[in-house]
Amino acid sequence: MINVSDLKKDFPIFEREINGKRLTYLDSGATSQKPSAVINEMSNVYTNMNANVHRGTYVLSSETTTKYEDVRNKLKDFINAYSSDEIIFTKGCTEGFNFLANSICKELSAGDEIILSEIEHHANIIPWQMVAEKYNLKINYINITKSFDLDLDHFESLLNSKTKVVSIVGESNMSGMLPDIQKMNSLVKEKTDAIYIVDGAQLVPHRKIDVQELGIDFICVSGHKMLGPTGIGVVWGRKELLEKLDPVYGGGDMIEEVFYDSATWAPVPHKFEAGTPPYVEAIGLGAAVDYLSSLNMKNVEKHSDDLRIYAKNKLENIKGLNVVHTNSKVAGCTFAMSVNGVHATDISLMLDTFGVAVRAGHHCVQPFHRKLNLDATFRATGYIYNDEEDFDILSDAIEESIKILT
Ligand SMILES: Cc1ncc(COP(=O)(O)O)c(C=O)c1O
Repeated sequence: MINVSDLKKDFPIFEREINGKRLTYLDSGATSQKPSAVINEMSNVYTNMNANVHRGTYVLSSETTTKYEDVRNKLKDFINAYSSDEIIFTKGCTEGFNFLANSICKELSAGDEIILSEIEHHANIIPWQMVAEKYNLKINYINITKSFDLDLDHFESLLNSKTKVVSIVGESNMSGMLPDIQKMNSLVKEKTDAIYIVDGAQLVPHRKIDVQELGIDFICVSGHKMLGPTGIGVVWGRKELLEKLDPVYGGGDMIEEVFYDSATWAPVPHKFEAGTPPYVEAIGLGAAVDYLSSLNMKNVEKHSDDLRIYAKNKLENIKGLNVVHTNSKVAGCTFAMSVNGVHATDISLMLDTFGVAVRAGHHCVQPFHRKLNLDATFRATGYIYNDEEDFDILSDAIEESIKILT
């Protein structure tokens, strides 16, 4: 079980007051707060052992290299990858999708099809749109139902011999919806030879993920949403698939031999990591993985589920508040909300006066907002350092704001 008041002591930011009030941070969907373990580990590298990785034969460089490479093992265990060579470091989830889209689609033929869904984050739309235009590919979108879930009948009807990539969010950053990854992946494998990719930006921080059990081919992960620093993420992929892919970025560290007119690539994973990697950020992510593992991801999941049930009941009973949230029993603790006649930014500015931090806007899911005839929403996401009191404070502050603004 997670004891929030004890756990909060690990996060120095909660010592701050905002507008004279305790900080009620409900914007972990955008980025999570960082525990001292992560901050101190990064500071320790810069203070005591900083040197570029893979470059030197001296003590400092071999220490940072060992620490950096060890994070691959931590992530391998965290998501149950087959091998630590399958962990590719990126700048974040967005860079992961750009890498996969460019590398995979280069091998496709004109007219081949990619399946996304209507609720995808821009990070899982724009890179595919860019390569679809370049290589003349077609993108199909899975419809959503009235309860904001994916229409699986429609999904099945889209699968055909031209389908080469299916890339779907693991947990919606707007409605909290969790698609049935195993079922969707099985349908893909039954009916096509397509690659199944999961957008794990919101899923991996909140749930125990086992890529072998899911049977998927790739997952993109965002470090800063799972207690880690910014500027670091991961693409996990099956080694046999990674070996077939070409690198997208060229430069130092990703080569085996270089000649004036050609070059050969280093083995996986290094062929995908050109230049000096964000090794301090990767080591910080390793500390975040240790922290989450020490809590046990099954406890993190249970905490998220309990908090979601409480928050959903609380928010859906506020008069005048529209809540976009799936009705499914398995869901994330994320709620996008709107009030008729009031702009989301005005509500969030008002909430800030109560010390409540939520995000306002389209949360990089503009097509989903458009589909629901909304131009913007404000969004609250609960994480391990949030408890029922946070959602009580949010609900009271929303009620007050509605009174003042309508
Ligand atoms: C569902 C989803 N996918 C992708 C991203 C992009 O992640 P990153 O910030 O690591 O590029 C986000 C970030 O908000 C997200 O919520």
